[in-house]
Amino acid sequence: MKAEHEKILILDFGGQYSQLIARRVRECSVYCELKSCRTTLQEIEKGAYRGIIFSGGPNSVYEEGAPRCDEGIFRLGIPVLGICYGAQLMAHMLGGAVQSSEVKEYGKTEVDCMTSSVLFHNASEQSICWMSHTDYIEKAPYGFKVTAKTDHCPTAAMEDYQRRFFGVQFHPEVNHTKEGTLYLKNFLYNACGCTGDWKMSSFVEDTIEELRKKIGKKKVFCALSGGVDSSVAAVLVHKAVGKQLTCVFVDHGLLRKDEGDTVERVFREQFDMNLIRVNAQERFLTRLQGVSDPNEKRKIIGEEFIRVFEDESKKLGAIDFLCQGTIYPDVVESGTGEAAAIKPHHNVGALPENIGFEGLIEPLRYLFKDEVRKAGLELGIPEFLVWRQPFPGPGLAVRIIGDITPEKVHTLQEADAIMREEFAAAGLDKSVHQYFTVLTNVRSVGVMGDGRTYDHTIALRAVTTDDFMTADWARIPYDVLERISVRIINEVPHINRIVYDITSKPPATIEWE
Ligand code: XMP
Repeated sequence: MKAEHEKILILDFGGQYSQLIARRVRECSVYCELKSCRTTLQEIEKGAYRGIIFSGGPNSVYEEGAPRCDEGIFRLGIPVLGICYGAQLMAHMLGGAVQSSEVKEYGKTEVDCMTSSVLFHNASEQSICWMSHTDYIEKAPYGFKVTAKTDHCPTAAMEDYQRRFFGVQFHPEVNHTKEGTLYLKNFLYNACGCTGDWKMSSFVEDTIEELRKKIGKKKVFCALSGGVDSSVAAVLVHKAVGKQLTCVFVDHGLLRKDEGDTVERVFREQFDMNLIRVNAQERFLTRLQGVSDPNEKRKIIGEEFIRVFEDESKKLGAIDFLCQGTIYPDVVESGTGEAAAIKPHHNVGALPENIGFEGLIEPLRYLFKDEVRKAGLELGIPEFLVWRQPFPGPGLAVRIIGDITPEKVHTLQEADAIMREEFAAAGLDKSVHQYFTVLTNVRSVGVMGDGRTYDHTIALRAVTTDDFMTADWARIPYDVLERISVRIINEVPHINRIVYDITSKPPATIEWE
């Protein structure tokens, strides 16, 4: 990311949609950064931002300890847009009045907008917005004009044209706000004067150039999993320094059917990379023998991964840089510290520093997942890799309940391949965000031909989700479920029952272990 890029700052007040605001801004071709509301004025001034957005948040502005920002922000001469709590805080700090209502205004709401205002330029006079608030702005501060209303909200939007301060009680970043993207665009382009210089093609070119400068003649080591993030990171580095990059791909024997070969083919043949494939199936399966506790399995796999990398790096000699596929949500999740929900960190591929490298290379540090995918396509990575669903580091080990044997791995790989084939054939592979089979460790009685069977049960799991922190079970058409069921029973030995998991997350998790 070049220093001269137009930049927007999003201050996080703990709202559940803060990351979504950032994604929407990026979708409008404007680069933005998400930081804690406690970011100092000095740091904000140094950032040379074109505009600042205050996110929503769960508090009330009058609550003791409610998050605030530095008042000096309002004297910087930079346009500010407050969203929900952010708008209330702006009203409160600038001398308006915020009130608590008896009833929460929640859900899709009709809104009347003043189209002569900057924010609603070219928008409809009446539209639908997404509301989620109890407090409301009773009186806009001096200098502000009310620019939108709903039946229950006297100040659904306000603006101070002179100072370029704006507030919206609703959430423009949420899809349910019909013209939300237009309002955000109006803020970015008409209030902040952005031109939209954040393009994936220029990101790719600039990053390759920067990597070349940073790496020079040195050597880079990358743990390639075949997942989207590590693949895009590796290809970027490869385009920058070619064979100075060595990728290590560990096949722990718990991958999906044919996955190891596919990854190898793409990176060795299409990209002509220095790729070391470590076939460590036996090593992992031996250590996992007889282990059925899920945490224990994860621990063993994590430890073994590190050992394999240590062994490989010793063979390679001194390593200057380690390349990792860290992406922006990983950075902000451990960074802003405002959000209530904290994602458990289970990154198996993370390598310890004692592996002995000089520095880290994280070319995707500023990208969201959808931007990583765009960069991947820009770099010519095949679509099936770019659109790949997430796959846990410990692989099929957490989808085989109980102990793991090579036979069970094989059974699950076959069943999983059938589910994936049928999802692709039904065109569900992009709309359903994650789908897989689980070997449940349950045996039950069945009848096949004239005989009684006592065999294993496969569970099908398919979810839709925005962020993998919450998820809903996917409503798969019955005929697709039926085809998968019939095929697994007919084609995979020792399976005589198929069930479909209809639990959301929470209370369940996406994986079964
Ligand atoms: P859960 O099961 O916690 O999963 O709802 C959320 C997302 O994380 C993936 N997942 C993992 N990824 N190592 C990983 O790299 C793990 O140990 C692991 N466990 C779960 C899961 O596939 C889902 O996308």
